[in-house]
Amino acid sequence: MHLKSKKQLIKKDKQNIWHPFTQMADWLNNDPSEPLVIDKAEGSYLYDVDGKKYLDGVSSLWVTLLGHRNPEIDKAIKKQIDKVAHTTFLGLTHKPAIDLSEKLLKILPENLTKIFYSDNGSTAVEVALKMAYQYWQFKGQNRSFFLSLKNAYHGDTIGAVSVGGTDLFHAKFKPLLFKNYFAQSPYCYRCPHRKGNVPFPVKADTFKKHSEVMACKGRCIKEAEDILAKHHKNIAAAVIEPVNQAAAGMIVMPKGYVKEYAALCKKYGVLLICDEVATGFGRTGKMFAVEHDNVKPDFICLSKGITGGYLPLAVTAATDKIYDSFLGKYEEFKTFFHGHSYTANPLACAAANATLDILKNDKVIQKLQPKIAHFQKELCSLSGHPKIGNIRHSGVMAGIEIVKDKKTGKAFEYKLKTGAKICTEMRKDGIIIRNLGDTLVIFLHLTMTNKEISKITGSIKKHLDNL
Ligand SMILES: Cc1ncc(COP(=O)(O)O)c(C=O)c1O
Repeated sequence: MHLKSKKQLIKKDKQNIWHPFTQMADWLNNDPSEPLVIDKAEGSYLYDVDGKKYLDGVSSLWVTLLGHRNPEIDKAIKKQIDKVAHTTFLGLTHKPAIDLSEKLLKILPENLTKIFYSDNGSTAVEVALKMAYQYWQFKGQNRSFFLSLKNAYHGDTIGAVSVGGTDLFHAKFKPLLFKNYFAQSPYCYRCPHRKGNVPFPVKADTFKKHSEVMACKGRCIKEAEDILAKHHKNIAAAVIEPVNQAAAGMIVMPKGYVKEYAALCKKYGVLLICDEVATGFGRTGKMFAVEHDNVKPDFICLSKGITGGYLPLAVTAATDKIYDSFLGKYEEFKTFFHGHSYTANPLACAAANATLDILKNDKVIQKLQPKIAHFQKELCSLSGHPKIGNIRHSGVMAGIEIVKDKKTGKAFEYKLKTGAKICTEMRKDGIIIRNLGDTLVIFLHLTMTNKEISKITGSIKKHLDNL
């Protein structure tokens, strides 16, 4: 693109647009690292308007599942657009949504039998919270509290924020939020229960078996149990991102943690909501993260990768027990009064149907295992780096926590923006990843090559060496 027209585009962006999760004062002043203006994409790469290509190491914020411009997904959307792009789902239905519900129910845990559609991860969680609350109302119990984990992230709408435990994003909205109990999450590297609160580095491959990790798990589970023992009669549901609290900087849970958390819900008669918006569709190495622990929750929330990362769509899957409780006469007002204009958008459902067909026909998740092993090997080779405090890894997701002092775990000063600066530098190598504070986040799509994976970790090492 001509330099003048690119500058014009950026000028108009800065004049008219407010970007999400962005300090706009920085954005306005961000020359020379001018914003990348993305023009097109193919496979693992995004191309800017100058034709420069960038390896998409963060799957366009965790949505791209099978690479960009997958021919089969492209075709499915084009075919659907010749039929109908959108129709309401209130009182009408359509084949793409019906087909998709059938496909999803075949791969979800078998206790989940009903699919409720919405259009993003936050709404998928809102729906589950409201369904859980109403379920207890129908049973004559007023349970208006939820249990979730510190460091949790379930989205940005007020209900999702209420069960969110990331102070940086959520604390300022406290007066607006509903009541919630928070249990410590197993952020074992900086476990607040640990004597002296001293962080300890663990290699990515030994993480889940480390005795300190197991001790942290025990303390966190006890905290959740103490809350449930005392308050379960007021708690409608417990919410969890199974296996990995992704938005907190990839806080990967110790082996067995999710199973024990789920068992507590059963013991105390509290519903369980598993938010698999980030972890669903193979990201942990299994189709759904709950499969690692054979957990069967009352709800699973899905979005992001469901359409291959093409279009907004979300699902809240529920059990017959929940669904049946809403059945009644019209005048009983037991209807679930919730819906969105774009609920079950046919184009998005067509993309999702194509995505699930590819996952099945191409055996994508089976073929993923050697890639995960390669990724782990690469991460382990970084573990000893003096600027890395902790590496957390699950499937195709990893968080690399950068520290000033490896021995003490002392962080860099926040205002130095160390993590952000490394990401900006990596763009010169043609790689896009994002930071969460000083944790570098890698989120691969499922068909990335080993060579591409090594390119990302190699660039990280180079820029850490330059720190
Ligand atoms: C676990 C989890 N839940 C919910 C959400 C919110 O999804 P959305 O941004 O589509 O509203 C996210 C987004 O990152 C997430 O990681």
